[in-house]
Amino acid sequence: MDKISIIGGRTLKGTVQVSGSKNAILPLLFSSLLADGEHVFHNVPDLKDVETSCLLLKHLGCELQRSGNTLKVKTNKLKSLKAPYQLVRQMRAGILVLGPLLARYGRAEVSLPGGCAIGTRSVHLHLQGLRQMGAEMNLNKGLIVARVKKTLQGKRILLDYPTVGGTENIMMAACLAKGITFIENAAREPEIIDLAEYLNKMGAKVKGAGTDLIQITPKRPLSPGEHTVIPDRIEAGTLLLAGAITKGHISVSSCVPSHLEALLLKLEAAGFFINIKGPTIELSSPPHFSTVNIVTAPYPGFPTDLQAQFMALMTQAKTGGVSSLRETIFENRFMHTQELARLGADVQLDGHTALVKGGTLLRGAPVTATDLRASACLILAGLRAQGETLVHRVYHLDRGYESLEKKLASLGANIKRLKE
Ligand code: EPU
Repeated sequence: MDKISIIGGRTLKGTVQVSGSKNAILPLLFSSLLADGEHVFHNVPDLKDVETSCLLLKHLGCELQRSGNTLKVKTNKLKSLKAPYQLVRQMRAGILVLGPLLARYGRAEVSLPGGCAIGTRSVHLHLQGLRQMGAEMNLNKGLIVARVKKTLQGKRILLDYPTVGGTENIMMAACLAKGITFIENAAREPEIIDLAEYLNKMGAKVKGAGTDLIQITPKRPLSPGEHTVIPDRIEAGTLLLAGAITKGHISVSSCVPSHLEALLLKLEAAGFFINIKGPTIELSSPPHFSTVNIVTAPYPGFPTDLQAQFMALMTQAKTGGVSSLRETIFENRFMHTQELARLGADVQLDGHTALVKGGTLLRGAPVTATDLRASACLILAGLRAQGETLVHRVYHLDRGYESLEKKLASLGANIKRLKE
């Protein structure tokens, strides 16, 4: 297993480019199950989760071909309608084959994604929505066994919570249903808009993506299309926070600044200077910055996927300040605090709130990444810590960041991957 070694203390400077979005490409890849033919995706990041999704699609019978950042998915006759445990357990987004397979083939068997490190992460809203559309579902030996008698029926579905994956699964299924589907209290994330754009390219009529009411008018059959994946807003945010924690002056290019508004407002409130030039965000650091509080929330609120990295930054705010970070999306997304403490951070947990003391001296130490965003948090802390920080279990990082260490090195960080 690889490790990342960081010798902290360097100030980051320069420009770095953002890759395609992990959380956009995963549903896009699974949407290819809705239409026979060749689907072409550009700006596809090179990530472990993309690889796992490709393995799952191959297992179902799709042919995949990658050339640089372009990925072609050929879906003709599928040989299986079953997403097995070995693949879904590696990546929860595997549940996103359920809607497309049910809508297209009338049946599917998908391993129930178990709990994972950051929380229980139920999928009951995915299932509730698909049941409302006429699917029958049972659990058999850990598999969701789903069937539809004729075709799924368009329905008015009210989500009890704006689940991202649930909205995506129902949207995809609704594109081949009979009649119009409305999703109320839908997730509003940019990745939902990206998926809607591709579903429209395939021939469906999806309106309202990006608002809490999405209307889907189906089309049978759908045809494959070509699509460029949106930039990864969480990667962009992580890079900006890396610049901030090192008191750097950096530009993050090829991103969509409006997708990062919640983070940019908090950075400005803390005292950082933000300048937006088209698809580039420039960040300059003040000599000292203040603590600010955050509450994670569904988009456009502060993203839970940047909470851990923001915590690393807050350990370096002005001495005397305490910042409160409240996590409302996942019940167990503070595991990085124990590891940050190994570097010297002073963080008190009080239920779903972390109180982070500013002005702590971080000193390098061996630490272990517990999940994807926790890995990024520890790397950021390592950039500021005195001496060497060794981050173990970086396979978590590889699930969702394309060459993060190379991008940080290009900004001047002393960071390298050690192969074991
Ligand atoms: N939830 C339920 N029932 C459901 C669905 C969700 O209780 O049927 C709960 C979950 O347990 C969780 C909360 O609702 O506590 C949010 O879940 P959501 O369905 O919105 O998230 P997701 O689709 O599983 C996506 C991203 C996550 C990101 C969340 C929230 C993908 C592949 N994953 O997950 O990304 O944190 O939305 O924004 O899009 C990451 O990239 O590190 C990551 C975890």
